Amino acid sequence: MSTEKLLSRVMEAEPVGSRSKVTVVGVGMVGMASAVSVLLKDLCDELALVDVMEDKLRGEAMDLQHGALFLKTARIVADKDYSVTANSKVVVVTAGARQQEGESRLNLVQRNVNIFKFIIPNIAKYSPHCILLVVSNPGGWGGGSEGTFLHMGAEDDGERWKDVHKKVVDG
Ligand SMILES: NC(=O)c1ccc[n+]([C@@H]2O[C@H](COP(=O)([O-])OP(=O)(O)OC[C@H]3O[C@@H](n4cnc5c(N)ncnc54)[C@H](O)[C@@H]3O)[C@@H](O)[C@H]2O)c1
Repeated sequence: MSTEKLLSRVMEAEPVGSRSKVTVVGVGMVGMASAVSVLLKDLCDELALVDVMEDKLRGEAMDLQHGALFLKTARIVADKDYSVTANSKVVVVTAGARQQEGESRLNLVQRNVNIFKFIIPNIAKYSPHCILLVVSNPGGWGGGSEGTFLHMGAEDDGERWKDVHKKVVDG
């Protein structure tokens, strides 16, 4: 299921006006595609962006803010500090290392788990009840911070990614 479809499904259950906030962590190619999809589909009232690359983050946020005249989303905020994500309903994690040539997906997941060990506790700190959608490879998985698991990518590996999700949330 694509991130866009999954997001639409998660958000459509919410009455208009109370759809509140979506955060996208990682403003690379996938993160900005997700952010633009969220904005064009009017899925939230506030969009927050987070990345470790401050210049890039500022530039991407400014681009979206300049286009906001044509959008319904009231507020677009960005910072490397996770306080900017506070009270998000949905957090889309697209941050992560890219798979290097010849690198196994298992090795990549370990590198990304190390990155997630910083990202996920910060998200949980400011949005303890959010739904997490992790697009970063390998796989892509989603779940609530309270342990629910939404199947998303890795159609063949659902059980394995449940385990990865549990390790990150528990860690
Ligand atoms: N599940 C899928 O269907 C699918 C499809 C395409 C890509 N992906 C994966 O999505 C991820 C992103 O891909 P991309 O092409 O946007 O990569 P990218 O390199 O363009 O962007 C990654 C972003 O993550 C940021 N980042 C790195 N570490 C961070 C951290 N600790 N905190 C916050 N931000 C951090 C980087 O600064 C960068 O802006 C990769 O893991 C990629 O393999 C998944």
